[in-house]
Amino acid sequence: MENKSIFDLETVYLDDDNNAVVMLDQTLVPNEIKYLNLTTQPEIWEAIYELRVRGAPAIGITAGYGAYLGVKPSTAGDFDTFYTEFKVVKEYLASARPTAVNLFWALDKMESCLLKNKTKSISEIKAALHKQAEEIKAEDIRTNKAIGEYGLSLIQPNTGVLTHCNAGSLATGKYGTATAPMYLGQERGYNLKVFADETRPLLQGARLTTFELAAAGIVVTLICDNMAATVMKKGWIQAVFVGCDRVAANGDTANKIGTAGVAILAHEYGIPFYVCAPTSTIDMNTPSGDQIEIEQRKPEEIYKKWYVKPMAPEQGVKFFNPAFDVTDAKFITGIITEFGIARPPFTQTLPQIFEKKRSSEEN
Ligand code: MRU
Repeated sequence: MENKSIFDLETVYLDDDNNAVVMLDQTLVPNEIKYLNLTTQPEIWEAIYELRVRGAPAIGITAGYGAYLGVKPSTAGDFDTFYTEFKVVKEYLASARPTAVNLFWALDKMESCLLKNKTKSISEIKAALHKQAEEIKAEDIRTNKAIGEYGLSLIQPNTGVLTHCNAGSLATGKYGTATAPMYLGQERGYNLKVFADETRPLLQGARLTTFELAAAGIVVTLICDNMAATVMKKGWIQAVFVGCDRVAANGDTANKIGTAGVAILAHEYGIPFYVCAPTSTIDMNTPSGDQIEIEQRKPEEIYKKWYVKPMAPEQGVKFFNPAFDVTDAKFITGIITEFGIARPPFTQTLPQIFEKKRSSEEN
């Protein structure tokens, strides 16, 4: 994977010398490649809220860096004051977006790190937070490589796969989750044909997935969201791989709006539907999809954002713009994690995945 130019485009990284989170502004891709240097908490919050950085794992990585930078300038002289300052930063960053659990997971990891080091000096705690933030990104990259291997084991060469939104390198530390098997397949001569849903209203599939797959030399065909049934019926799709923002303990999965419809279509056409889920995106504290908060976004994104003129009357029309939907577990063939593939019943197999994770951490 290392030689592909797309991987030279870092999604997000820390410039510690300049106290900045540096990120590719994904709202401009594919037309412009521009990096932002964000040094203030409101700038980092805004970047997450406006999807300059987006995708559950990349949001988590950004939050880790943001939390570290938020307390780095602290002049607190004792642990309690420092901890109080940290909690303000944590709460602020956590309010940027509600659905992707990685945001909260990363912030909790930072808090655990801080508490684990509470007997140390403030400067030592800051150093530990720096290390933890970098580890969140490094862990994500290792995770995606493992998901790539497990995912590729489920498909054959010369087949077609469909994906929704962007669960790619740009959504993660590197390699992506749903795209990791595609990149690995490309390396191993699988000759996969990828179909990318455009993913209205923010077009992550059109703007980001096609951009990064094409840059890696993968054959990618862009389709509108309402064309998935057509390509499935034609027999062009042998598997669906999608990412996720939060997987509940029963396997119900929140992902970009439109995913649930794709899953239902795949079920109808007998096509396996796989959710690629780092364990950081699996929330065993949420029993089912009913408890997942779904982000509601501005109406303008539906009818105005990408158009020269509004594509709906601005008066007398109501708008509904949920950013995510929940795919019922019954439509999911498998949940691919870095510790293996969970199959239904997920209430039994997801705990087994976490058991594997625990024992790997002990060894
Ligand atoms: O609103 P976005 O662009 O952050 O939504 C992204 C998705 O829904 C992705 O599929 C998900 O976060 C997984 S990214 C590996």
